[in-house]
Amino acid sequence: MDLWECPALVTGAASGLGAETARQLAEAGAKVTVVDIDAEGVQKVASEIGALAIHCDVADAVSAEKAVAEARERNGAARVLVHCVGRGHFEPIIGDNGPMRLEDFRRLVDVNLISTFNMMRLVAADMAHLTPMTNGERGVILLTGSVSAYEGQIGEAAYAASKGGVISLILPAARELGPLGIRVVGIAPGLFGTQTLFDIEKNLDSRLARQIPFPHRFGDPAEFAMLAIHVLHNVMINGSVLRLDGGYHR
Ligand SMILES: NC(=O)c1ccc[n+]([C@@H]2O[C@H](COP(=O)([O-])OP(=O)(O)OC[C@H]3O[C@@H](n4cnc5c(N)ncnc54)[C@H](O)[C@@H]3O)[C@@H](O)[C@H]2O)c1
Repeated sequence: MDLWECPALVTGAASGLGAETARQLAEAGAKVTVVDIDAEGVQKVASEIGALAIHCDVADAVSAEKAVAEARERNGAARVLVHCVGRGHFEPIIGDNGPMRLEDFRRLVDVNLISTFNMMRLVAADMAHLTPMTNGERGVILLTGSVSAYEGQIGEAAYAASKGGVISLILPAARELGPLGIRVVGIAPGLFGTQTLFDIEKNLDSRLARQIPFPHRFGDPAEFAMLAIHVLHNVMINGSVLRLDGGYHR
């Protein structure tokens, strides 16, 4: 995908991996729309990188439809979706006060999984009507999983389940949308120094970083963005989930 003047939508862009990916997309010349539930945060990122900011709860059908329509009107229908919305959650199934609240599980699935399917379906419907580029490509949908989907730890059953759903939809979505020239790819980050990690790991210390074979540190959002940009450029990457974790397996 040629990113120059390419309409690109980045969700979860007020912070962390999404904010940095939006920044690198803007540097590559894309017409970037940044979307987040944090209205002030997303406006700040948009002003810094010269993007369009949209306040939206991407887990909500109506809110997301409005956001995609506004982005289409102002920047053109997106050829790129980078969906970085997500939330960490660390809680045992049975805690000191009894079972985990079902409502908390539902909300986590809403934010991590429902939001992913919601944005994918809306953006793919627009992409299907775009003129193919010279290589036949119409668009790229890049979704964010987690290594916890494969190797979730005690206290991560709910979070791992919400991310497992994201990982599972990537291949069938790529199979369905491939004939339309739309690629679907996932990145499964390991430990990156952002709010999601701080939500899951209350006691962040160097011991945790030392468990990463190399480098012995948390990932930098710029390293996630670098891979995201490569995936967008490289038309052969499709239907797969790429781990980005420094060899970390818990
Ligand atoms: N940081 C890590 O170590 C790590 C590891 C594995 C996976 N991930 C995944 O990477 C993605 C990005 O996380 P991050 O680390 O940048 O976290 P982050 O907390 O810095 O960013 C997440 C953003 O999503 C936004 N958001 C949350 N709910 C929303 C909603 N309903 N609608 C719109 N926006 C919403 C937040 O306001 C925030 O700006 C998430 O899916 C996360 O699960 C992160």
